[in-house]
Amino acid sequence: MTGKFSNVSSDYMSGFGNDFETESLKGALPQGQNSPQNCAYGLYAEQLSGSPFTAPRGENERSWLYRIRPSVRHSAAFSPLDMPNWASAPNIGDHDLPIAQLRWSPVEIPDEPLSFVEGVRIMTTAGDVNTQSGMAAGLYFVTRSMEDEVFYNADAELLVVPQQGDLLFFTELGKLQIAPGEIAIIPRGMKFRVELAGCDSARGYICENYGGKFTLPDRGPIGANCLANPRDFKTPIAAFEERDEPCTLTVKWCGKFYSCRLGHSPLDVVAWHGNYAPYKYDLDTFSPVGAIRFDHPDPSIFTVLTAPSETPGTANIDFVIFPERWLVGENTFRPPWYHMNIMSEFMGNIKGEYDAKPDGFAPGAVSLHNCMLPHGPDNEAYEKATQSELVPHKLTDTLAFMFETRFPQHLTRYASELDELQQDYPQCWDGLKKNFTGQK
Ligand SMILES: [Fe+2]
Repeated sequence: MTGKFSNVSSDYMSGFGNDFETESLKGALPQGQNSPQNCAYGLYAEQLSGSPFTAPRGENERSWLYRIRPSVRHSAAFSPLDMPNWASAPNIGDHDLPIAQLRWSPVEIPDEPLSFVEGVRIMTTAGDVNTQSGMAAGLYFVTRSMEDEVFYNADAELLVVPQQGDLLFFTELGKLQIAPGEIAIIPRGMKFRVELAGCDSARGYICENYGGKFTLPDRGPIGANCLANPRDFKTPIAAFEERDEPCTLTVKWCGKFYSCRLGHSPLDVVAWHGNYAPYKYDLDTFSPVGAIRFDHPDPSIFTVLTAPSETPGTANIDFVIFPERWLVGENTFRPPWYHMNIMSEFMGNIKGEYDAKPDGFAPGAVSLHNCMLPHGPDNEAYEKATQSELVPHKLTDTLAFMFETRFPQHLTRYASELDELQQDYPQCWDGLKKNFTGQK
């Protein structure tokens, strides 16, 4: 394992949900107070709150931003903007398909010029964006960098899961670069620009979290280590641009889009402190825990981040991965078992082969197993799992994931009309024959 992970970077600060402080000009950050009569360098002080002011201390999230111009200089004269492929909940009945287990082959990156915001293609929505519960999931395609454009999402925290191509997020609080195998989380209300980083195009998955923000799951009897460890989450140091040139600000607000022109870049935060910040995480640093004798735990054991709902243990969203790992169970059916579930599962494949579905779920593909629809290994996986010798076996070069929500996921018209929708997907279980003979 030595040398597998990158060294400590001075571009990022380590930790999950810390109270960070960072300044890109020496002395820009006030000490001992938040809002002095005059800030250093003539900066404006501004608070960005991710929770109500009165949220309990452990859930209270806000950052203080010290910026060249306050955000009120950004909000004049918004105009409606048409963004039909970025749908929001409720979005029920926007298609004619009956209920089914669904799977889509990878969708190729389009040839047309698409910024990150223009390239979002929502496939499912759940809950209600107006009541701040539920989520949306889909794909993004990027073929051009945003230049004089900045975006913020008032509806959701964004979880970005790259599958091809590196992306640079220049956020108000600093620069965050991610590659396939990493994820980025951008808080609700935070302005950012997305650039292609050393590639011509990019593709990946996106999840909008309308509800309470992602946090680390409790570990219970696992103890203080393993799964996702706090130190592996990386938050950027402060970075700003002083750009007094025209810029377009786009906002997503209650499912609708609006834009306005500014005379300057709003990515002008010189220093900040607080615990409401973007971060990234390398999924390869997730330390999987599993059974070491027989059977295997529920897939919740692979939860990287969870966005809780008001009901304990019932997530608005769980972000779960299926990483490289050893399978060692004795007398055990080793793939995921057959099941029906109240939660709804949107899955994607970042790389390699997923063990329950050796065929038809290539990197870039999507599957949807909705509330109380049965699913499990296909016929090929079942045959292999029931006949192979149970020696220790390592699943290598594999990384799939799941956005799982307590709410049913409703298809968008975009998802229902994609040519990549595999009409024969449910037939992957056709070969599961009757083995029952009445004899033990
Ligand atoms: Fe499942």
